[in-house]
Amino acid sequence: MDTSDKWIIQRTGISSRYVSETENTSDLAYQASLQAIEDANIQREDIDVIIVATMTPDCMTPSTACLVQAKLGLNDCPIFAFDINGACSGFLYAFQIASDLLSRYEHILVIGSETISKMIDWNDRSTCVLFGDGAGAMILGRGATQLYHYANSEGDTQQVLQADGLSLVQDLQNNEPSTHYLNMKGNDVFRFAVKVLKESIEHVLAQSNLTMDDIDLVIPHQANYRIISHVAKKMKVDLSKFYMNLQEFGNTSAASIPIAYAMAQREGKIPANGRVILVGFGAGLTYGATLIDNRGGQ
Ligand code: COA
Repeated sequence: MDTSDKWIIQRTGISSRYVSETENTSDLAYQASLQAIEDANIQREDIDVIIVATMTPDCMTPSTACLVQAKLGLNDCPIFAFDINGACSGFLYAFQIASDLLSRYEHILVIGSETISKMIDWNDRSTCVLFGDGAGAMILGRGATQLYHYANSEGDTQQVLQADGLSLVQDLQNNEPSTHYLNMKGNDVFRFAVKVLKESIEHVLAQSNLTMDDIDLVIPHQANYRIISHVAKKMKVDLSKFYMNLQEFGNTSAASIPIAYAMAQREGKIPANGRVILVGFGAGLTYGATLIDNRGGQ
């Protein structure tokens, strides 16, 4: 392919990413779940709900969440399991739905998992260098943490970022080529991303009556170093407040925020009483943010 390591690093910040050869989305989701269950110090039988955010499920049905339920050996447990597709904002969407479900359920397993390599056109240098496979998971339970949410979507009429999966009968009759690979207008997505990441952060700050000075860490969707640094610059915030691991993982779509959160936590970057903003954007077009306030509004 006509590209270079230098171009990719300079234009994106990505120097490596993972491509799954043998494990599908539910396998990665299962592995991430085991770690989340261990970290949360609960038994797998305690889980009441499983939500998987993905746009690359193993199959159209059953849902990846049901496949994870089976892999966890919870077939006979009463579990509310389903997938959601919010593209790269998927984990944020799932997290927000899960937090609303906490009034009815105690332990909710929220997973972002993608084998996005399945939908990459490996001949398209403008997309294939950006994405990687992975999964991250969290357990949500009841507590004193305050959450402030913002979510939005704008129907993509300009086909800025898309992948058609299934052809209509007419397409088959017309013998039209498949467009199931991810394709995008990179510059348009870049501009959109900078605008909505900033807007989404401002929304949750306004709701919580906090400013960026009160925030310990921002965990953005890991798409591109330049997108994130533009946002920091526009907000006049030091870039060090924005956590990044895209250099190692690339853009793992719905998995990027939970993977980044887990790594930041392991690196000691999330204080026990910290305030963290999760913020993302993706195809749809979708975007949003959640402010996690572990100081309980103090
Ligand atoms: N290697 C080498 N050259 C490449 C390349 C690659 N992998 N990909 C694109 N180019 C070329 C282009 O063909 C273009 O060449 P041309 O000027 O001869 O036409 C040139 O680099 C500049 O292209 P451009 O698209 O303007 O580059 P860019 O600086 O905007 O970077 C992206 C391209 C895709 C990295 C950038 O637009 C981006 O990150 N967009 C957002 C994508 C994203 O986050 N998507 C996921 C959303 S969840």
